[in-house]
Amino acid sequence: MSDNRRKFLKTLGIGTAGALATPSQIWAQAATPLQAALTDLKSTDTSEAFWETVQSQFRFAEGLTYFNNGSLGACPKPIREATLNFRDILDDFPSKYMWGGWKDEIEEVRKKTAALFSVSEEEIALIHNTTEGMNLIASSMDLNAGDEIISADHEHTSAVNPWKYWQASKGIKLVSPILPMLPKSVEEIVDSYRKAITPNTKVISICHLVNTNGMILPLKEVTKMAHEQGILVAIDGAQATGMFTIDLKDIDCDFYTVSAHKWLFSPKGVGIFYAKQESQKHLKPLIVARGYEDTSIRRLENYNTRNLPEVLGLGAALDFRNSVGAQKIQDRTYDLKHYFRDKIKNNTKLVLKTPALDSLSAGIQVVEILGKDVKEVKNRLFDDYGIDSRPMSTFGLNAVRLSFAIFITKKQIDTLVVALETIANS
Ligand SMILES: Cc1ncc(COP(=O)(O)O)c(C=O)c1O
Repeated sequence: MSDNRRKFLKTLGIGTAGALATPSQIWAQAATPLQAALTDLKSTDTSEAFWETVQSQFRFAEGLTYFNNGSLGACPKPIREATLNFRDILDDFPSKYMWGGWKDEIEEVRKKTAALFSVSEEEIALIHNTTEGMNLIASSMDLNAGDEIISADHEHTSAVNPWKYWQASKGIKLVSPILPMLPKSVEEIVDSYRKAITPNTKVISICHLVNTNGMILPLKEVTKMAHEQGILVAIDGAQATGMFTIDLKDIDCDFYTVSAHKWLFSPKGVGIFYAKQESQKHLKPLIVARGYEDTSIRRLENYNTRNLPEVLGLGAALDFRNSVGAQKIQDRTYDLKHYFRDKIKNNTKLVLKTPALDSLSAGIQVVEILGKDVKEVKNRLFDDYGIDSRPMSTFGLNAVRLSFAIFITKKQIDTLVVALETIANS
């Protein structure tokens, strides 16, 4: 072989023996900046200084304090860099990487994702977002006129509309129990679901953490009750995944679907779909393309040409998460929640609209300033303090939704509380 040809093949990532560069070589190339940035984060330290180091891995627009992770997550710098590297590798040799060159890396991401939920990689499909996952479930079900789906009043439109659209022509009924807004116990919520079940119920479609007021729904209890009556359970995990540890084997649901671009801080447009091995028989691909005959769960993620750099970016996001530590992230989320709630508890003008119990809420808290319109509060937080929040006005809420992600420091919460108090007193 001539020197020129050897050099050419080397640039393409093809060794002299004609073999593709190994998966680990490609991964290492993309992940190098990530690994370097993470070295500092592996300490067992949980001090505010440690969390400031975590925060330094994120980048926001000048002057912005981002309490709006529930709307869309922020991607840390090393994950952005890793994803850009994957994009470059792909665009240097598109056909190679889109059509099989990254097969092993994708399987690696699937394994890391399965570990996140304590399930098998044969139960994980890598999709685009929660909306797609809910459509996949709703479009798959062979339901008949008179069959009922339970979908409570706090469900997100992305989890309700697919049922309406895919099942409307069949005459199925959407049953929508009204959930308590500020439950004092898990049982209060379970009871709402218990009362909604009839002999016609086929599926309970339930959110893990509702986007309205941050309430966590009791999945394990509802799933147990549903399965005792032969009802399938489909979960919208968009707001929960990444905030705290989730063991899907323990919850025992049939389906769980996630947007990784929220609390897992992945690149945008990457989602996760879990289907319990025994429940996969109910599912049909939403998009039919090459590979649809595959009997494994991979048949649900075959879109032909797709966003592979972002999928590999999810792998980087999971590495980032594991380097910080899942338990530390969960503990920090609850620490920030308690810190915020404690700071405002004696102010009678600031009213929390999120249940207090840790089993019923975590990193999203919703607060009303008595006597102030939420739109004004949202605008003043942003205009006067650079704080981004989400105004919530459904369900009679007149409150801002605040997200306490791991890049938020206690100093920023202090500023937030001063801002809320100033607006309340004005
Ligand atoms: C509870 C819930 N479900 C589903 C979605 C839809 O997420 P995506 O647009 O990533 O599909 C959201 C988005 O905010 C959400 O909060």
